[in-house]
Amino acid sequence: MAPVQNARLIYKSVPEGYPIPGQTTVYDTNDSIDLENAPLNGGFLAKTLILSIDPFLRGKMRKPEKKSYSAEFKIGEPLYSYGVARVLRSATPEVKVGQYITGNFISFSEYAICPPTVLPSLTVVDKRPDLELRTYVGAAGMPGQTAYSGWKEHADPKPNDVVFVTTGAGPVGSLVIQLAKQAGCKVIASAGSEDKVAFMKSIGADVAFNYKTTDTREVLQKEGPIDIYWDHVGGEILDAVIEFSAENARLILCGSISGYNTGGAAPIKNLSMAVGKCLHLHGILVFRIFHKHAKAFWEEIPPKLASGEIKFREEVTKGLDKAGDVILAVQKGTNTGKAIVVVAEE
Ligand SMILES: NC(=O)c1ccc[n+]([C@@H]2O[C@H](COP(=O)([O-])OP(=O)(O)OC[C@H]3O[C@@H](n4cnc5c(N)ncnc54)[C@H](OP(=O)(O)O)[C@@H]3O)[C@@H](O)[C@H]2O)c1
Repeated sequence: MAPVQNARLIYKSVPEGYPIPGQTTVYDTNDSIDLENAPLNGGFLAKTLILSIDPFLRGKMRKPEKKSYSAEFKIGEPLYSYGVARVLRSATPEVKVGQYITGNFISFSEYAICPPTVLPSLTVVDKRPDLELRTYVGAAGMPGQTAYSGWKEHADPKPNDVVFVTTGAGPVGSLVIQLAKQAGCKVIASAGSEDKVAFMKSIGADVAFNYKTTDTREVLQKEGPIDIYWDHVGGEILDAVIEFSAENARLILCGSISGYNTGGAAPIKNLSMAVGKCLHLHGILVFRIFHKHAKAFWEEIPPKLASGEIKFREEVTKGLDKAGDVILAVQKGTNTGKAIVVVAEE
């Protein structure tokens, strides 16, 4: 069989602010691959089906000297993220031809030879017939796992606790809202558009508002004090939450997207109040805590997603050539649900 085209989304340059399609990332169709004979070197050949477009990709677009918990992308190479791929050939007994696999190594290319070094972070997708494959990168994937494990680990909810969730319409925030309602809490949630506000209300938020048109401080002053804060934005809003927190409040620091494209979130001025209020600040990383909650997650969440008891929204874009635009949309907030790129149907 003759080599076939292997289109890729290449990481081209470190962005100054937002990642610009065609500049930060470039769609390239010059590469090809011999699907039958390309050497596997102890690994396996995967066909990329689905890519997850997550906020953390921006953090990997940085200069190598800037250290972080997650490796930076390499200039000139395809990006990678969570995703789902199908195994076409395998030289390792741990991966079988035909399996759907996921993990934070799925290449932004039509095909990829994955080295054996990815095996520790690989999961074979145990797909339910009543859930789409793509949902395994969203509500049943890393974002859902983040919400579930961070909530179980640190929220310690009591009935009538007041919970505040930022970025509440996204895949992480929308599950946090529903877990908080299940626990009998009052939920305040914010997001950046009227459509997202309506969605947050539809999944149970008691108070939902658009932080671009409504002053977060006024809402917190009226509806608080806050017992549990789920932070996705950092900066000024985190500062306001510290001011309007109850004693012994739990602040779960999951992300700080207000600073991802601006060189860092606004500085926190109210941290000294954390002393007087005995606040509990918990930074979380899903891959550090999910293993403790995995069994419970798989038993509880996918069935509830399938039955509709837990709701989720996905925004599906077809074509690897569009992935650069979707990366930008997630950073700017113009995505309306879990951002997913379908590279190939099967
Ligand atoms: N710690 C972990 O292990 C872990 C794992 C997964 C995700 N996260 C974090 O969780 C957060 C949510 O992730 P997700 O996948 O659910 O994202 P998402 O909602 O699909 O997309 C990101 C959203 O962030 C909001 N946003 C963008 N710029 C903002 C700004 N300047 N201020 C406030 N909001 C802004 C936008 O929504 P609006 O329209 O509402 O502004 C955008 O839609 C992110 O901070 C991410 O980094 C952390």
